[in-house]
Amino acid sequence: MRRLLALPVLAAALLLAATGCDSGGDGPGTTPPDTTLAALAAEHDVLFGSAFDANFSTLEAEYQRILGSQFAVVTPGNSMKWDATQPSRTTFRYTNADAQVAYAEGRGMKIRGHTLVWHSQLPFWLTSGNWTKQQLLDILREHIQAVVTRYKGRVYAWDVVNEPFEENGTLRNSIFHRIIGPEYIALAFQWAHEADPDAKLYLNEYNAEGLGAKSNGVYALAQQLVAAGVPIDGIGMQMHVTDTFYPSAGDLGANMRRIGDLGLDVDITEMDVRLRLPATQSALATQASIYRSILTTCLAASNCKAFTIWDFSDAHSWIPSTFPGFGAALIFDEDYEPKPAYWAIRDALED
Ligand code: G3I
Repeated sequence: MRRLLALPVLAAALLLAATGCDSGGDGPGTTPPDTTLAALAAEHDVLFGSAFDANFSTLEAEYQRILGSQFAVVTPGNSMKWDATQPSRTTFRYTNADAQVAYAEGRGMKIRGHTLVWHSQLPFWLTSGNWTKQQLLDILREHIQAVVTRYKGRVYAWDVVNEPFEENGTLRNSIFHRIIGPEYIALAFQWAHEADPDAKLYLNEYNAEGLGAKSNGVYALAQQLVAAGVPIDGIGMQMHVTDTFYPSAGDLGANMRRIGDLGLDVDITEMDVRLRLPATQSALATQASIYRSILTTCLAASNCKAFTIWDFSDAHSWIPSTFPGFGAALIFDEDYEPKPAYWAIRDALED
């Protein structure tokens, strides 16, 4: 899982940063060039994306400028989750999700829906209920059908089932697994497909990007789902990694290939590379080489169709509150200046 820092990559990134790869504006090396990451990635048939959260419209102008220009696809970070969309059994609420979808559509960006079935961010009415299997099946079907139908033809891909695995590769003991059993996964895909037959449907997981017990579990399930004719299109690889723990290009490529051999796509869905704060120049260089390695591996895999980062600026990231003492995980810094990781990504896309 560990990989040595690619010094040539750092040198290239720093060279790019120092030689004025910009379109004028704030100064050499600081302003992203006119050609966007989305446009560069499109030349590889890859969608370059970012997550964004519901409060985006009140954020700095710089945030909105970058969000509205650099990405081909966006993922609402929280607004489509169960606690947001169905606050009571009989109430659906789409205020934030609608705003985010309208924003993306207005700028020609695709929308990745996140997420329909997850053990986390569930409403209290759901987690506190003493449901029978049939009741929970009904609740799950109603939820999936309502949300997918709401955005039919507008959300191009859904993370249908999120994080269903334990680290050892067995299925997580979620409320859905406990009460319904493992068949909840196939049913979720079936119901999502019925609600929008054109949407691409993914199983999304973390720490299952390289080779190991967890990714073997994901692969085995994917094999079963495909064999059973379940309408699954791909595996989402979240890619929340650190500067010392991340998949090697070899392991990641091998995992992408075996999933491709099943006829499935793989998308990088939530990448960030968290660093211990304050981030050193050396750590930022390592981070740049990791972003480059993962992206390059995706570009080399014909079934890797999207590369999404989990928001784009260190000013707005889930990391500092979840991992105190860590941060600086994204490709723009807190002042929206492009970091070495940004230039490494451009360099990989321009190769
Ligand atoms: O909505 C409440 C708001 O009413 C309240 O005032 C505020 C005060 O803390 O909290 C708000 O909820 C927060 C929510 O984000 C919306 O901002 C939660 O506390 C906070 O825990 C939640 O964090 C989200 C996290 O998922 C929850 O698990 C992150 O923003 C979101 O980026 C993160 O995303 C997940 C993916 O869905 C799945 N993969 C891992 C990834 C990172 O954890």
